[in-house]
Amino acid sequence: MIQYDDHKKIWVLETAQTSYALGVSDSGTINHIYYGEKLPKLSDYPDAKNEQEWASFTSGEGMSREEFMGWCKPKYTEPCIKATFQDGVRDVVLTYVDHTIEENALTIHLKDVYYALHFKLLYRVIPECDIFERTVEVINVSDYPIVLESILTGSLHLPREKEYRLTFLSGKWVGESQIQEVMVPKTKMVLESRRGATSHETNPVIFLDANALATEDVGDVYTAALAFSGNWKMVVEKNAIDTIKISAGINDFDFSWHLKPRELFKTPAMVLSYTNKGFGHASRNLHQYQMKYVLPNEHNNDLRKVLYNSWEATFFDVNEEGQSDLAERAAAIGVELFVMDDGWFGERSSDLAGLGDWTVNTKKFPNGLEGLINKVNALGMDFGLWVEPEMVNPDSNLYRQHPEWAYHFETRKPTEARNQLVLNLAREDVRQYLFEVLDQLLSENNITFIKWDLNRSISEPGYPSAPLEEQREIWVRHARGVYELVNRLKENHPDVIFQSCSGGGGRCDFGILQYFDQVWVSDNTDAFDRLMIQEGFSMAYCPKIMESWVTEEMNWVNKRKLSLKYRFHVAMMGNLGIGADLTKWTWEEEQEATQLISLYKEIRETIQHGQHYRLLSPRKGILTAVEYINKDLSEVVIFVFLHSNHFMEPLPRIKAQGLEEDAVYYIQGTQLYLSGKALMKIGIEVMLKGDFDSTLIRLMKQ
Ligand code: DGJ
Repeated sequence: MIQYDDHKKIWVLETAQTSYALGVSDSGTINHIYYGEKLPKLSDYPDAKNEQEWASFTSGEGMSREEFMGWCKPKYTEPCIKATFQDGVRDVVLTYVDHTIEENALTIHLKDVYYALHFKLLYRVIPECDIFERTVEVINVSDYPIVLESILTGSLHLPREKEYRLTFLSGKWVGESQIQEVMVPKTKMVLESRRGATSHETNPVIFLDANALATEDVGDVYTAALAFSGNWKMVVEKNAIDTIKISAGINDFDFSWHLKPRELFKTPAMVLSYTNKGFGHASRNLHQYQMKYVLPNEHNNDLRKVLYNSWEATFFDVNEEGQSDLAERAAAIGVELFVMDDGWFGERSSDLAGLGDWTVNTKKFPNGLEGLINKVNALGMDFGLWVEPEMVNPDSNLYRQHPEWAYHFETRKPTEARNQLVLNLAREDVRQYLFEVLDQLLSENNITFIKWDLNRSISEPGYPSAPLEEQREIWVRHARGVYELVNRLKENHPDVIFQSCSGGGGRCDFGILQYFDQVWVSDNTDAFDRLMIQEGFSMAYCPKIMESWVTEEMNWVNKRKLSLKYRFHVAMMGNLGIGADLTKWTWEEEQEATQLISLYKEIRETIQHGQHYRLLSPRKGILTAVEYINKDLSEVVIFVFLHSNHFMEPLPRIKAQGLEEDAVYYIQGTQLYLSGKALMKIGIEVMLKGDFDSTLIRLMKQ
């Protein structure tokens, strides 16, 4: 619901629990007024006046809470727009024009006070998820090009508090999504990617809570995320008068956009959420929002299949015989989707060659892909395939034909990483080539799953044949190119599920999730490390998209040995996959795996479509516990993991959450029937022993 008070010139946007208020200031800018719990009356909201000037260094307007600030006047915090006009004028002075309201959408029109540069600030209310989405459209209505040097999506201003804690996700390859916490200092902090993709290093989702008081279950938490998979930037500033401003958008580093006459530029969405029920609820809001509004519709209601992936079993050494053998074994334990990873195409027998040549290697597959796919289908499984379309090995036919298709500066040797270069997806001919080759692959073969990888970041981002003034657009055009390609492929092949992978979890964000159905979260398949990676991932992203594999007993990452049960329990917390070399499994291991896969199939609806509760964090004690509860609160699954026992200390009881208080739940495998309230207040005793033990608790409403 959106209301407008004509007298005060303010808008109030309401979700189920929250409201967001903004208005027109005395100087014609759009200022933020309030974000938090819904207030009873429109008259409760103050007007949007600017701050008073109180020092020559600190102007009133500069301290005001602008939703979308132009760089102009004495304003020194992060601007959302910085541009240069034809005559060399380099600031943008915005003023309100008018607005439109349509059910859950508010559009505010602004323009520069002198130049023909127009803006639409678009706000979309998603009531049941307590989410606001913001985007901005910039339109050049003049007859001259205008250079956009920075164009962020917007700023969010938090209520003034003594201090704020910032929680965010950062990491590295094999160590993604680690939860970080820091008290916001009185300065400016920048979280960003300059790599051309989202990055393993930092993810564009942040959480802020006042005075570090929020817990998983209670307290005010503000969330801001950016839906973009190219270079992004989030800025957290605490200004002279101690207000916190968060700005998010496309990174302005090495960026500019030559906005032609009549051209419209749309920013990626900034996603905002507020809750007074702690971090757990903030995550559930984001999960619900993804499931309903972000992920591609085609496969959103289907349950994800149990998959097998060949990577850790065979690496590049794939061939029809070996893959068929794995497929038989995978089918026998209950796998539903067999995915062949890297190594099947061109002259690919290591990472030295072949990327770019997306035709099957007939020495490895004498019957083409068809031979293997027929076999996999005859075993009752779907078939999936790995590709890395944005890349090229210099040792490939594609590169020999089109060296100019890779990003490069004319006078520099482009740097190889994993022996590969990045194709310039800003180029229409490159996108068309990739579309044709992938479209053909999908048309000629019964492939229902594509794992789309990206194993390096962009460097030397030159596009020498483009006009000089457009060369810095590649950071946006590349990401848009990926979106466009997947979209076109999906139009022709709506049955195919696309998985985003970037050497593990280097490309997961609310932008890519509009096109890709699921994500490979990390190359780290050590189940214990994975608990922390998955916990961080769950802060922002829902379990359904989180693919996780059971791999070898002794994992390659840390040489840690974990039981099959423990590895399964960890992988079952999202979208279950198997990535071990099945030819080495014993009969007992196969039997155990068969049982666990069949159990997963029983509970996956609750895991993939239910609500997710982080009961005990792997960062904070010897037990980790994560709960999933289905929509009607009748089925509950809780995974519990013990790190190590110490000093014969008793383990904490597992207190469930979100249950129906008065309902009676049966604890499977026991004689116990307890009320929801008892299960939440007294909790369940777990009998875990030694190091790295695990259990799965199932509760069923009677
Ligand atoms: C990186 C991915 O994350 C792995 O799962 C695997 O697909 C390799 N690339 C293949 O090169």
